[in-house]
Amino acid sequence: MCGIVGYIGKRDIAPLLLEGLQRLEYRGYDSAGIALQPRPGTAGGLRTAKAKGRVRDLRDRLPKRFTGTAGIAHTRWATHGAPSDANAHPHLDASGKVAVVHNGIIDNAADLRAKLAADGVELVSDTDTEVLAHLVGRAQAETLEEKVRHALGGIEGTYGVAVLHADFPDRIVVARNGSPVVLGLGEKEMFVASDVAALVTHTRQVITLGDGEMATLKADEYRTYTTEGSRTSAAPTVVEWEAESYDRGGHETYMHKEIHEQPDAVDRVLRGRLDERFSTVHLGGLNLDAREARGVRRVKILGCGSAYHTGLIGAHLIEELARVPADAEPASEFRYRNPVVDPDTLYLAVSQSGETYDTLAAVQELKRKGARVLGVVNVVGSAIARETDGGMYVHAGPEVSVVSTKCFTNTAVAFALLALHLGRIRDLSVADGRRILAGLRRLPGQIAEVLRDEERIAALAGRYAHARSMMFVGRVRGFPVAREASLKLKEVSYVHAEAYPASELKHGPLALIDPDVPTVAVVPDDDLLEKNRATLEEIKARGGRILAVAHQEQPRADDTIVVPRNEPELDPVLMGIPLQLLAYHTALALGRDIDKPRNLAKSVTVE
Ligand code: AGP
Repeated sequence: MCGIVGYIGKRDIAPLLLEGLQRLEYRGYDSAGIALQPRPGTAGGLRTAKAKGRVRDLRDRLPKRFTGTAGIAHTRWATHGAPSDANAHPHLDASGKVAVVHNGIIDNAADLRAKLAADGVELVSDTDTEVLAHLVGRAQAETLEEKVRHALGGIEGTYGVAVLHADFPDRIVVARNGSPVVLGLGEKEMFVASDVAALVTHTRQVITLGDGEMATLKADEYRTYTTEGSRTSAAPTVVEWEAESYDRGGHETYMHKEIHEQPDAVDRVLRGRLDERFSTVHLGGLNLDAREARGVRRVKILGCGSAYHTGLIGAHLIEELARVPADAEPASEFRYRNPVVDPDTLYLAVSQSGETYDTLAAVQELKRKGARVLGVVNVVGSAIARETDGGMYVHAGPEVSVVSTKCFTNTAVAFALLALHLGRIRDLSVADGRRILAGLRRLPGQIAEVLRDEERIAALAGRYAHARSMMFVGRVRGFPVAREASLKLKEVSYVHAEAYPASELKHGPLALIDPDVPTVAVVPDDDLLEKNRATLEEIKARGGRILAVAHQEQPRADDTIVVPRNEPELDPVLMGIPLQLLAYHTALALGRDIDKPRNLAKSVTVE
């Protein structure tokens, strides 16, 4: 959702905050703003600058000599109120002494706005956040901490919030409930941000606040406490990701960089986990011993978007290797259907950011009902990682592009590891375990081989880029590949696409097939090859064009992208790679803003 950055210390604040916002722009990018605490002795209260548009537009609007001793800044992904200067954060109270930046949604904002207006307060924006600034400004309390606590007591909803007050120039007060807030600890300087991406160039010592936790940041100290006021003692952790891993590394876009990082990323998710001796894997932190694992009667995987699609792949892998019934469901649906929780079911929450609200809320609902929930997460220390009973990190490294690629692939491989682990605790044979381990070890090199075909895939993308719509089809293991490829194309190129099980085409969607609606078909050399080839015939007979992703040329396809064979269970990992490039180059051909697709944000921390 939105990005928050704050700093207190001696550095020149505006450039530091702008650089931090730029690193968070993937979280939201329709408007931005900064508020500064002026240096002692400077006339006037807080100084602010806000601009509709990107961070660069804000940079162009900064007043001369825009300096101070503390500052908060925000890049917005609009929820309440259209993108505009007035709706950009920070929001001020009526006195102009209080500035607030906020990520999340205040559910009772309408009531609060009405009450404030009835009290004669003039509201100058359409946002929910502005009410928080007024509540802090009107709170009858001695300290800024008390004022903020009092204000937060009056709101319902989610927040990651940072507050400046002209009467308390030596501090920034922050609070978290449902939206991420990370403190960065420096030498005589402190930082706060929604994501470590904005901190790692300055410090790797961080503290991730928990829900219901607050902090006071001064230049030379910090304090954490609950919204009720009792002290907490969160221990700092060290960010494992290097600062440069947040740079584009010479690539045009983060998406391109992250697609090409996949051989190394998959290497990382395998590292230290393959156990040749017992033809299985070690998964430290899973928090599920062999006896408990044998007691699992079913696996339910929950996630949103691409995370959900990796869950579909994971469900196949677990059923194939561990012979345990498994299925995946969008977390956003699951949490609203009053789920029947089965104590013998193992629940897996999948999330790159570990902050997706729908997935986090599903985890909390499951925990409330006594379920065992493990996390399959990329960001260490994220809310979902902390909320679950254990799990595994997918070690993809920071994924900055809104469009998930390397994390999708790493999560699919993580599911292969989990499925092998569960299978070898049960009846999967040594030979099969060895076969899968060999397949896993081949993946990084084979992914690199597929990436070397980029130029040809780019040419194919140009050929299909102007289609009215695209159909993606696959069978069984191939269907999640088709689902994810369809999402990739939609979200980065804005070309409409649909994914169907190949066997379903004849039950209706075949009516859509015509020369302007090409079909991408996932056609592995598995036991369904002839069935898939029959589908190609069906499409050709109706004048449809076909781009096949396969292990060998498909005579009935107009074009075929050939990928190397691995083990049938692992083929979906490889078949998805060229379709990431297809989406990327289609978007490039159409001139899209690839890392920041319209209307989207990297981490959707609101409902
Ligand atoms: C993926 O390309 C999308 N950006 C989106 O579907 C994403 O996967 C989804 O929002 C879930 O995010 P998460 O993995 O951080 O929970």
